[in-house]
Amino acid sequence: MSDNQLIHTVFPNQISIYIKREDLLHPIISGNKFRKLKYNLEEAKNKNQKVLVTFGGAFSNHIVAVAGAGKEYGFDTIGIIRGEELQDKIAENPTLLQAQQLGMKFVFISREAYRQKENSDFIENLKIKFGDFYLLPEGGTNELAIKGCEEILTSSDSEFTHICSSVGTGGTISGIINSSANNQNIIGFSSLKGEFLQNDIAKFANKQNWSINCEYHFGGYGKVTEELISFINNFYLEHHIHLDPIYTGKMMFGIMNLIENNYFPTHSKILAIHTGGLQGIAGMNKVLEKKGKTKIII
Ligand SMILES: Cc1ncc(COP(=O)(O)O)c(C=O)c1O
Repeated sequence: MSDNQLIHTVFPNQISIYIKREDLLHPIISGNKFRKLKYNLEEAKNKNQKVLVTFGGAFSNHIVAVAGAGKEYGFDTIGIIRGEELQDKIAENPTLLQAQQLGMKFVFISREAYRQKENSDFIENLKIKFGDFYLLPEGGTNELAIKGCEEILTSSDSEFTHICSSVGTGGTISGIINSSANNQNIIGFSSLKGEFLQNDIAKFANKQNWSINCEYHFGGYGKVTEELISFINNFYLEHHIHLDPIYTGKMMFGIMNLIENNYFPTHSKILAIHTGGLQGIAGMNKVLEKKGKTKIII
């Protein structure tokens, strides 16, 4: 099980920061993916489904997690991948290569076709091609995923004043909100540009004790800066904890920066959720290497 680990106590305000090591839950189905898949896999088994179909981009943590879950729990897996150009580049893409080695079959589609992925004709065509399957949405967020994410916090986490998580589709933070106490402040750090997430979260969340910070996306989804990479590397050297560049690195940078700017009241007790995603470092390092930039320590 994951334990909360003390990272820092910041003086003179005595703000303490702990990290919940969800990244240690499983070597492949790591962090929030473990939580999101748990009840979906149960449902797929109950429905006697043998095949899991899902969607993702070139560096998707979700794609690897579904491939790993398929291998471990006896499902065939099919990944619908955004970008036809990637089909000739599997060997150069650590995410797709790992998913393939875990047994996933791919269907590469154009970005335009990918935008239609939730439409019923598109799904029907997949069924004609592959037979019946259990569909997991992009990023894995659905009601059962949120139910799984409600298990991230445990009763002993009620001592924290602030709980922080990175946000993509909003599923993970919705689960965290639902199992938090009303007097806790839940802060989501958006990994992408735009404030459209708020509506998605409001649909699933059963409380109002949350806010989304959109100041630390570093240029948008999948974008990084030298400052972020250097923060991630220094964090590793100091704490021996890896952060990924897409989600958890941005969240932790945001938390530290907000502390420096006196955002948190004296004696705040902050819990940062490490949602995993470390498989993405290898792919990002390839990009950084091509650009001649400093890489992330692994
Ligand atoms: C490592 C990691 N952290 C956080 C998130 C954000 O989760 P959500 O999409 O549920 O907001 C994701 C994406 O699913 C992720 O892969």
